[in-house]
This record gives sequence, C-alpha cells and structure tokens, in this order.
Amino acid sequence: MESNSRDGFSSKIGVIAAAAGSAIGLGNIWRFPYIIGDNGGGAFLIVYLLCVLTLGIPIMIGEFALGRISRVNAIATFRKLAPKSIFSIVGYIGLLSAFCILSFYGVVAGWCFSYILKSLSGAFNNLTPDKADLIFNNLVSGGFEPIFWQVAFMFLTGFIVLFGIKNGIEKYSKILMPLLFIIIIILDIRALTLANANDGLSFLFKFDFSKITLNTIFMALGQAFFSLSVGMGTMITYGSYISKKENLLTTSLNVAFADTLVAVLAGIAIFPAVFTFNIDPSSGAGLAFISLPMVFSKMFMGNIFACLFFILLLVAGLTSSISILEVIVAFLCEDFNISRKKVTILTTVVVSLSGVICSLSNGFMKINLFNQSYMDFLNYLSSNFLLPLGAILISVFLGYYFDKKLFVKELTNDGEIKLPFEKLLFFLFKFFIPFIISIIFLQNLNIIKL
Ligand code: TRP
Repeated sequence: MESNSRDGFSSKIGVIAAAAGSAIGLGNIWRFPYIIGDNGGGAFLIVYLLCVLTLGIPIMIGEFALGRISRVNAIATFRKLAPKSIFSIVGYIGLLSAFCILSFYGVVAGWCFSYILKSLSGAFNNLTPDKADLIFNNLVSGGFEPIFWQVAFMFLTGFIVLFGIKNGIEKYSKILMPLLFIIIIILDIRALTLANANDGLSFLFKFDFSKITLNTIFMALGQAFFSLSVGMGTMITYGSYISKKENLLTTSLNVAFADTLVAVLAGIAIFPAVFTFNIDPSSGAGLAFISLPMVFSKMFMGNIFACLFFILLLVAGLTSSISILEVIVAFLCEDFNISRKKVTILTTVVVSLSGVICSLSNGFMKINLFNQSYMDFLNYLSSNFLLPLGAILISVFLGYYFDKKLFVKELTNDGEIKLPFEKLLFFLFKFFIPFIISIIFLQNLNIIKL
C-alpha cells in the first residue's frame, strides 16, 4: 500500500487505543515481571519509572512527531528528513530490531495458544508448583508443539497485515484493550487475597536503593524501550497515520501511562502468587507461565479465567506483533515496489523460520549465540542494544540535526496548543539521553568501568 493511500486513525481514542495496543503486549505481562524478578524487585521498579519518564516518553514524542511530519514509513522518514546523513541507519537498525523481536515474540505468543487449550482441558486443576514448572518446561523444550503454535501466531499476524490493518487495528484495539484491563484487575483482586500477598507486594514496591546497580539501570532502560515500543520506528510509522489535530504530547503521556499501569498491574497479579506458592521470583522467562496457572488453579472457575487470560495475552501480543510486522512490510512494499501481499507473505515466512530456531533453542536443540540460547540472545540484543542504539540516534537527531522550529511547530500543532517543558525536552534530547545511553554502552563494552 502506498503512503498516499494510508487512511490513518479516525479518532483520538482510536489513536490512543492503537498506540497503547502496540505498547501493551507481552512486554508488560510476560517480560516485565520476570525482568523485575531477576533484578531485585522494587529497586528496579523505581529505576524503570525514571527511564520511562526521562528517556522513553521523550523518544515516543519525538517518534510521533517525526512520523507525522514525514507521513511515510520509518526508513523513508529519515531518508526524507535527513537525506544522505548517517541518521538513515536508524531505519535499518529498526528493521533489524523488528526482525529480532518478532522472532521470539511469536514463540512466546505461541505458548499462549497451548496454554489456552491446556486450561480448557483441565491441565491446571489441582496444580502444584512442581507440576506447573513441568508443564511449562515440557512445552518450551518440545520440538513440534511450540513450533506449530509459533508459526500459527506468525501467520495470524501476517494474515491481518496482509488485508490491511489500519481500520482493523484501531477498531480491534478499542474493544480489546479495555477488556484486557478488566481481566487484569480481576486477577489482581484474586492475587491480593492470597495468603502471602504482602510478601509479593513488598518485593514489588519496596525501594531498596542499595540494590540498584549499573546493570539494574541497563535492564530497566531496555525494558522501558521495549515496553513503550520505542527506538525502532513503530511510533514513527503510527505517527504518520495520526491526524494533524491530535495533541502528540498528551497522546504520548496517555500511552505511556496506560503501558506502565498494565506492567504494574501484571506485577501485582504475579508476585503475590510467586510468594504464596514459593516460586523463585528470579526463575526467568517462565515466570508468568508458571505462577499464573497456580493462581488460576486456586480460583473459582479458574479454568475459565485461565483460558480468558491467555486469550487476552495472545490478543495483546497480536496488536503488538502487527505493529512490528507493519514496520518491515511498509518499508519493503514502498521502497521496492513489491505488492503488499508478496512482501507480507515473504516476511512472515522468514520471520517464522527465525522463530523456529528460537523455539528449538529453548531446549530441544542446543542453538547458542554468545553463550546464550538463540532466543535469549535475540531478546537481549534487541532490548539492550538495538533499541537503545535507535533511541540515542533519534535523540541526537532531534537535539542537534533536525530543525528545532519545525519540530516544535509539529508538537504545538502550528502554535495552536502549548508545549510545556520545551526546554526540558531539548535538554533531554541534547544531553541527558545521549549521556545515559553512552555510559551504559561504554560500560557494557568494557571500555569504562564504573
Ligand atoms: N511494546 C510491545 C510489548 O510490550 C512490543 C513491541 C511492539 C515493540 N512494537 C515494538 C518493542 C517496537 C520494541 C519496539 O510487548
């Protein structure tokens, strides 16, 4: 589909629902709880919130504005706004990130399919922590089953993108996002009435500053970018569909708020169960898939709630995976003039193959890269390297290269609305964001030692 036939979002609520649909996904409900569990709880949460405020939100505002100025896909945006400059690589880094993220995203979303069927078949009845662990490990290290579901999920994603998603995404998100909130709140209420709920809450909310290390900041930063869908061009692409009337600043704040709220609510659903059923909070990527079935098994009509929960997790994943695939598809069909249909099928197949390798690397076969499984490597590479790299370049681009007047004009809708914190925003772009991300990179490449 060409850029001039993009219809764009039809309403303010639609914009927020779709952008929040991209932001709220597996990152909030699956990734956030286990990353916070691995990184010491409350200390991580406060660093995470600071990263969202000072790095994530400014980059989101910047991405929306750039997309709405250029009105083209993320790669073409930089070609158009910064012709023949180094900044064109931002788009290509975004493409690589999209490929890496989608590869493992499909695997995790595929697990949801399996869990939906398991909950319906009563596999979670009278669950013990050991059995929950076993069910999860058997699934992820299996050969055929997780691959089947991963491929099914990728084709579902491709199917929607194939038939045009703009109206679809918006409509779909407006119904599904509120539903997701309702289910999470029901789960929270159940989790809060568990025996050791307090231990879980204090793990989540007790700010023990002594636990903050450079690695905490590093992980929080990557998680903030991943969760907010920034650093990769998703929000540039969505920005190109937003009408000139919308207020980009408040849109960004609303999306970031909804995204953070869902992450915290997911933490509240999971940690009381983790502490009540003696699951190790640092048990890694399986946390939500092991502890939540435990909660459901103790719940009245638990099978139904379990089923509903994994359907919603799947749907949350789907509204995000579509936004990731769209970044690749929009670029390939515009730049190479290939039909949307061909590009979508081709991309879906290639990403699915990489997803198969991810899935196998979880135990069925030993497929390692840099001492981690292929899947863990892609997960780490994208969030902790590619997204921050994209973000630092966007930040430097906005702080130093791009016409400041044009940018402010876009954010104020031609002077019609106020832009509070303008100075602060530019301070963040020019100094703070590049500084923080550079320090983290230098430390991780062992160039400096703090
Ligand atoms: N934010 C989504 C989540 O939390 C995943 C996602 C969608 C994403 N688009 C992105 C992550 C772009 C990074 C970049 O699950």
